[in-house]
Amino acid sequence: MKTEYLNARHPEDLQRAAKILAEGGLVGIPTETVYGLAANALNGEACKRIFAAKGRPADNPLIVHIADLSQWEPLVRKIPEKARRLAEAFWPGPLTIILPKADCIPAEVSAGMDTVGVRFPAHPVARELIRLAGVPLAAPSANLSGRPSPTTAQHVWKDLEGKIEAVLDGGPCNVGVESTVISLAVDPPRLFRPGGVTPAALREILGELEIDPAVVKPLEEGAKVASPGMKYKHYAPKAQVKIVRGSAEAYYRYVNSHANGRTGALCYQEDAEKLQVPLICFGTQADESRQAQELFEALRKLDDLQVDTVYARCPDPEGVGLAVYNRLIRAAGFEVIQVD
Ligand code: TXA
Ligand code: MG
Repeated sequence: MKTEYLNARHPEDLQRAAKILAEGGLVGIPTETVYGLAANALNGEACKRIFAAKGRPADNPLIVHIADLSQWEPLVRKIPEKARRLAEAFWPGPLTIILPKADCIPAEVSAGMDTVGVRFPAHPVARELIRLAGVPLAAPSANLSGRPSPTTAQHVWKDLEGKIEAVLDGGPCNVGVESTVISLAVDPPRLFRPGGVTPAALREILGELEIDPAVVKPLEEGAKVASPGMKYKHYAPKAQVKIVRGSAEAYYRYVNSHANGRTGALCYQEDAEKLQVPLICFGTQADESRQAQELFEALRKLDDLQVDTVYARCPDPEGVGLAVYNRLIRAAGFEVIQVD
């Protein structure tokens, strides 16, 4: 298949993307979190093609994106008061709210679950496109399954060119990690995936919030999974990533004493001058939002270092840092080395 490159700055390209979607095609689209691989959420056949293009396991449900609160009601059985309060506080924005699904949700979208996650993205291009298409859009991150999520149109192109109808370029993503996923289908509400909306901000609206243990720990063998995406290896570069937890000084000592021509580092900008191995930076220690913005591009760049092992700085799991830590620890297959 020949993939069309479309630019969101051109109104006719937006129209073209909307037409492709209305006809059951797949388009890589910008959102404020990461690029999504979009299809008409009410068209089961179109959504099925998303799984084929990404190589996504069939049991992993898709998030449905809306551009107006009135599009939410028909997708779910009921919108409880707590859900309305969350929407009021954080939509449009990087928050996905899971609720029991309505019958119009195709089986491909819910992947056998009786719930559906809905998100109202803040990105003006995503919103305009949903309006033009006239339907809600199902969209997982637009990467090949297992690869880091895409934060530029070029990342999408690299992974999916030839497999989808078009990529719509809207520039780099602002948030850089995928949305916060919360379930209100259980009581108390449960955080499945940390993102740009922090647990503290959610608690301010909800009071009680449980953090699913899978956010920071590997699933136990045979454990029941509440959110299928948590069980898959994710974000993994070719090299083995190992998180090194400890002070900056201890990290430098560890990395430099293990330098052997086949090792590299994934570190903050201010670490670069202290290290004697090839390295890629993701933001600065003091700025979790920049770490989030730069992490996935950094993980993709690690492949260029041509090393076997990458020692990563351990993000502080506070605020947006919890989302950074959650992604990095999956990229590392949960391997953490404690150095002091
Ligand atoms: O920011 C985002 O959320 C991006 C952009 C494109 O909106 N989308 C995204 O989708 O990250 P995806 O499919 O890559 O990740 C969705 C995660 C998966 O881990 C999935 O298992 C979980 O959310 N999920 C989706 N629907 C669910 C449901 N009904 N119940 C439990 N988990 C669900
Ligand atoms: Mg994904």
